Amino acid sequence: MNVTIIGCGYVGLVTGACLADIGNDVCCYDVDANRIATLEQGGMPIHEPGLREIVARNRGAGRLTFTTQVRAAIEHGDIVFIAVGTPSGEDGSADLQYVLAAAQEIGRYMARFTVVVDKSTVPVGTAERVRATIAEQLALRGSDALFSVVSNPEFLKEGAAIDDFTRPERIVLGCDDDALGERARELMKRLYAPFNRNHERTLHMDVRSAEFTKYAANAMLATRISFMNELANLAERVGADIDAVRRGIGSDSRIGYHFLYAGCGYGGSCFPKDVHALMRTAHENEQELRILQAVSAVNAAQKQVLARKIVARFGDDLNGRSFGVWGLAFKPETDDMREAPSRVLIATLLEHGARVAAYDPVALEEAKRAFAADLDSKPEALSRLTLVDDQMEAAKGADALVVLTEWKAFKSPDFAGLARVLKHPIVFDGRNLYEPLALAEAGIEYHSIGRPGASRTAARSKRPGGPVPAFSA
Ligand code: NAI
Repeated sequence: MNVTIIGCGYVGLVTGACLADIGNDVCCYDVDANRIATLEQGGMPIHEPGLREIVARNRGAGRLTFTTQVRAAIEHGDIVFIAVGTPSGEDGSADLQYVLAAAQEIGRYMARFTVVVDKSTVPVGTAERVRATIAEQLALRGSDALFSVVSNPEFLKEGAAIDDFTRPERIVLGCDDDALGERARELMKRLYAPFNRNHERTLHMDVRSAEFTKYAANAMLATRISFMNELANLAERVGADIDAVRRGIGSDSRIGYHFLYAGCGYGGSCFPKDVHALMRTAHENEQELRILQAVSAVNAAQKQVLARKIVARFGDDLNGRSFGVWGLAFKPETDDMREAPSRVLIATLLEHGARVAAYDPVALEEAKRAFAADLDSKPEALSRLTLVDDQMEAAKGADALVVLTEWKAFKSPDFAGLARVLKHPIVFDGRNLYEPLALAEAGIEYHSIGRPGASRTAARSKRPGGPVPAFSA
């Protein structure tokens, strides 16, 4: 089939590459000329494991092309995916300007029956706005070309996107209940058939429910995280271990183990904005989603949890102190810095006068851009941040090491070596990566989230700077 993708980001590029890989003829269009030039030259604008190879082999086979020529791109597709960004607007609602701009281009250039697929995460009712925008453009040029708008939200996870796309747990298809909707559904079923070979994973529903499903899924996952983070903070106060509690409740099949990890808050391009957008949708419909209000507030506070522990340990004035940071991306296996907890923690340390040396296996370039933007008005603070390309280099001479992303490379460091390079052998772990005992044996004072405090685990460690004060979470 001929497929067009509008927007070559994490979702568009993965969708285009995976659909080309099963034999479709895919044309990917983006307004960002640099991004398209990079892709045309065999480069990769994002880090996603396995994507480079799939793009290369399908480009080589002539099934995957990249363009900034919007007309040619739209004319190419029997199915046109809209996979552009839907960032948070000022009031928290999803900003639909890119989606509607894409819809306008489709209406301007489509020449035959076209299935228009909303792949971007969009609020309930957006398909109707996309339909109206296309219809308006068709009317302007007197075209009677037919089309149908389908909602097909994406559930891939950055870092595992290829696997998620090609072996999906479910494919949600929201189609109109009319003849054109039926025609669109048949085409979409054919397109996705190769991913449904062993058992049918497609869930058919109406368009509005499909749009809602994506927000409901992300809101549920964010809720689990904030819930566990709040319990972790209580576990610290009452002397329980949140990791033992996690195993204890995860074994209940009604609860399950996924998304029960306490940490330094959720980030990324989806959860924060989708939680806000769903709250906004509720507000516009005269309902308040009180649980999600709490989820969001708990998360904002949790992004500060390590900063609070650091200040409790070293005092409010961090002038003359330096901290090593491992992990900048919002999660492992991606270079995505959007809403990453590292941005909040590092800004807070700099605000308190500290110096920071930070390392990430793949996100350094993105991090450079993110911190330059965040600290645009604070050049002096920015000058105290160094991004380094070596893990141990970040820790060298630091008053403490702070771990923010659970990259594999951070999971079993040489603790003795780490203790030697740090000025003070102290680790603040925002992802509960380590066994407290292993660090205590290496003489490292260890602070994690919701687990027995440093006072218990560091009893046998050499502790610089006097006794560790009790933390208030
Ligand atoms: P992204 O920001 O990585 O990519 C968006 C791309 O669209 C950019 O390359 C941009 O230049 C391009 N673009 C913007 N306006 C355009 C236009 N009018 N015409 C052509 N190209 C245009 O975004 P990402 O992360 O791929 O997200 C896309 C959508 O998918 C969002 O709605 C997001 O919520 C959703 N989503 C994202 C997931 C993720 O893990 N990143 C997972 C599931 C859904």
